[in-house]
Amino acid sequence: MTADLSHLDGEARRILRLNDKGCYTVPTAGLYPYQWNWDSAFAGLGFACFDVNRAWNELETLMSGQWENGMVPHILFHRPDPGYFPGADIWGTQDAAGKGAGRVASSGISQPPVAASFAWRIYQRDPETGADRLRRMFPGLMAFHRWFMAARAESGAVAITHPWEAGRDNAPDWDAAMARISPEGVAPYTRRDTGHVNPRMRPTKEDYDRYIWLVQFGRERGWDDAAIAAESPFRVADPTLTFTLMRACRDLRLAAGVLGEDCAEIDGWIARLEAGAERLWNPETGAYDSYDLRSGELAGAVSNASFLCWWGGLADRRSLPTLARILDTARFALPSFDPAHPRFDPLRYWRGPVWGVMNMMAAIGLAEQGLSAEAARIRADTAGLITENGFAEYFSPEDGTPAGGATFTWTAAIWLAWASPSAGEV
Ligand code: GLC
Repeated sequence: MTADLSHLDGEARRILRLNDKGCYTVPTAGLYPYQWNWDSAFAGLGFACFDVNRAWNELETLMSGQWENGMVPHILFHRPDPGYFPGADIWGTQDAAGKGAGRVASSGISQPPVAASFAWRIYQRDPETGADRLRRMFPGLMAFHRWFMAARAESGAVAITHPWEAGRDNAPDWDAAMARISPEGVAPYTRRDTGHVNPRMRPTKEDYDRYIWLVQFGRERGWDDAAIAAESPFRVADPTLTFTLMRACRDLRLAAGVLGEDCAEIDGWIARLEAGAERLWNPETGAYDSYDLRSGELAGAVSNASFLCWWGGLADRRSLPTLARILDTARFALPSFDPAHPRFDPLRYWRGPVWGVMNMMAAIGLAEQGLSAEAARIRADTAGLITENGFAEYFSPEDGTPAGGATFTWTAAIWLAWASPSAGEV
């Protein structure tokens, strides 16, 4: 007999409402007081389980921050909040406003492009009313993907210009590339994140200095993609961006189909991304990896992003033995970094903890490839973590300790859309 977990559905809906600022949702009050790109797309997916109109609003607000070049920023600073650093003034994107920055104050980088994938899922919840919203959003989503392909995909795989762009801020994938930056000339600053949560769970000062150095680097170049691509010491092709964009292109193609739009351009992107993903394959670790475009080296990192290949739509089973090893080692799947690696740290952000959003994408991809046992394990672990420990930002893969922020929007969203028994067999 399965336990009745319907009270958690209510709690998840309550969290989405709690973090709802009207037409956008904050990831959690205090720690993240603005609209984050991929968090917001997940929020839309969660809202779609009980309020489809609100789900569309979420994505529409996100797309309202799109830059003229198609980029959708990773943070939209709708209203100033002194509790967060680095704010709009540090990003300095408004100086680039004349050169195409959006109408909403924002950061100068993007984040994993899951918006098209979740727009498609929201549409599927209610195709009748959704067709019009999807039609209106389609050109913006096309422009967003076109921008990624033009500005970040020179190697075929999709590169980040800042660790925050991958959404996996302090992943060990970037350690070697970050070590090459000497963060000289960083203006004095005060971190705000460590005032909200335990510093042991957050990136180190060494990382933070380099994050801010990279922000200054982009600002000094007016957020000009070509200049940043040519001059930045940091440029790493990453599985999060590569596989989420690959999936988002496939979902956008489905949308194009129902809207009667031409698919040729999207087909071209999918083919380029499939070829480019091969550059991320690491035969030594038996998994997809990050690839440093400056040094020409793979990072040697087995992360939860490594297992997004199936979400990306690849019928590739080469990494299954590595996944099996990780599932055997971790009490709770999926750790964000290989527990057997000396740099594994069960509570420090993207260096070990389990993240529900990554689990959802990995498991749906596995299920689609017919790998239902692995998919079921990941889903059951996610449901167990939330049931036992609440809607935390992330969890220890060793004992489930909840970490980071609490009452977290995307954890609530993936509960409703996927991990909850009421989400059905997904
Ligand atoms: C952290 C995460 C990032 C997320 C943001 C807001 O920066 O690494 O992926 O989007 O918090 O939740």
